[in-house]
Amino acid sequence: MSDQKLHVTDGRTGKTYDLPITDGSIKAMDLRQMQTDPEDFGLLAHDPAFTNTTSCRSAITYIDGDRGILEYRGYSIADLAEKASFLEVQWLLLNGELPDAAQLASWKSDLASRAHLPAGLLDVLQGLPKDAHPMSVLMVLMAALGGYSADSRNVRDAKVRAEHIRRILAQMPLLAAAAWRHRRGHAQIAPKPGVGYVENFLRMIYGRDDVNPVLIRAMDVLLTLHADHEQNCSTAAMRGVGSSECDPYSCSGAAIAALSGPLHGGANEEVLRMLAEIGSVEHIPSFLAKVKDKKAKLMGFGHRVYKSYDPRAKIIARIAKEVFEVTGKNPLLEIAVELERIALSEPYFIERNLYPNVDFYSGLIYQSMGFDPSYFTVLFAVGRAPGWLSQWDELIRDPEQKIARPRQIYTGHRARPFPR
Ligand code: ACO
Repeated sequence: MSDQKLHVTDGRTGKTYDLPITDGSIKAMDLRQMQTDPEDFGLLAHDPAFTNTTSCRSAITYIDGDRGILEYRGYSIADLAEKASFLEVQWLLLNGELPDAAQLASWKSDLASRAHLPAGLLDVLQGLPKDAHPMSVLMVLMAALGGYSADSRNVRDAKVRAEHIRRILAQMPLLAAAAWRHRRGHAQIAPKPGVGYVENFLRMIYGRDDVNPVLIRAMDVLLTLHADHEQNCSTAAMRGVGSSECDPYSCSGAAIAALSGPLHGGANEEVLRMLAEIGSVEHIPSFLAKVKDKKAKLMGFGHRVYKSYDPRAKIIARIAKEVFEVTGKNPLLEIAVELERIALSEPYFIERNLYPNVDFYSGLIYQSMGFDPSYFTVLFAVGRAPGWLSQWDELIRDPEQKIARPRQIYTGHRARPFPR
């Protein structure tokens, strides 16, 4: 049995320390004992962007970025995408097990009975410009929803948490559809009783009842693929904000904000713009030359965690085929496929382990389903909501957690005489 300790000598003092190693990590606070003198604050770990720092223990999502593995509660993303519905995945993420038939039926009715928005929320929506970015609209609506749920601030009460998790998940597609219809100046549509969660969402988007079942299933799978991804930027925002014990609507608003950026959920929107800009396969080599010159980024490529093919991207390729059979092929697909083929054969991308991520093809599917690029991230948010809420609930129940409060290395002036 090996010694589960890190033996360190502090070169500044010559002192040696034994730092316990647990679960492949040391506690950053164990560094603090390393002082140069009794007045010294103690050694800190510096990790901008948290590239090598764990911030929690979590039993929700497992990723092995080198092997391209993604599992929710131990089930592979491929099995879940093929064999489970998004509602089952919501339950799984929140409860740790797949629901049985009775649990699933009661989950469906729990969500359906909460699928209505407060009337005043539509007044908030009317106050927003039609050309506001849909993610800004979603963020505002989510934060405003908290104003109708005063008891949601009581986050230490498990029953209160469970109730508001249900409300947020029930109302998320309604908020998303409201943002969509507002942008187009269309009257709002209420969900139809007895219609499934995803079907109702697409019904409200398209404004008609006869949504093609292939598109409903495709959207269901896309939502599952986005449902959680452990400690990504928006989930870290959800947890960071939630650590102050504010209500889950405020945390979800913060998570939506984080997701909206082009380096995170906004990437699929950028992929479409990039493909449109490239315009045709003949222009791919000159575009890739710009990327290698660091004058452009190949959007939809690269990932902080996956250093091989993103397992979600493989499933998306299959969904794309099914959707295009219904909608007709997206004309940008040819450019995307060729771009991927050439990029994956170029040393720049091979050496840096840059592969397509979930966003490379998802935008093409969304566009073919009638969504415009600025709305894609809203779809991502509808999918990610159960992940955010499961992670938030886990955070609140975790006795190891406190309010998140990183340290800094101060680089500014000190104790300056005031000039007047
Ligand atoms: N295009 C061109 N070069 C890239 C790309 C890319 N998409 N991604 C990374 N690189 C290069 C970097 O320039 C860097 O090169 P260098 O070593 O010569 O300096 C090297 O690869 C390492 O990249 P980092 O930026 O250090 O990787 P990091 O883990 O910080 O970034 C990120 C990950 C933000 C996803 C990045 O790959 C990126 O910007 N990709 C494009 C945006 C995108 O698709 N985002 C979606 C991510 S998935 C999601 O959020 C759902």
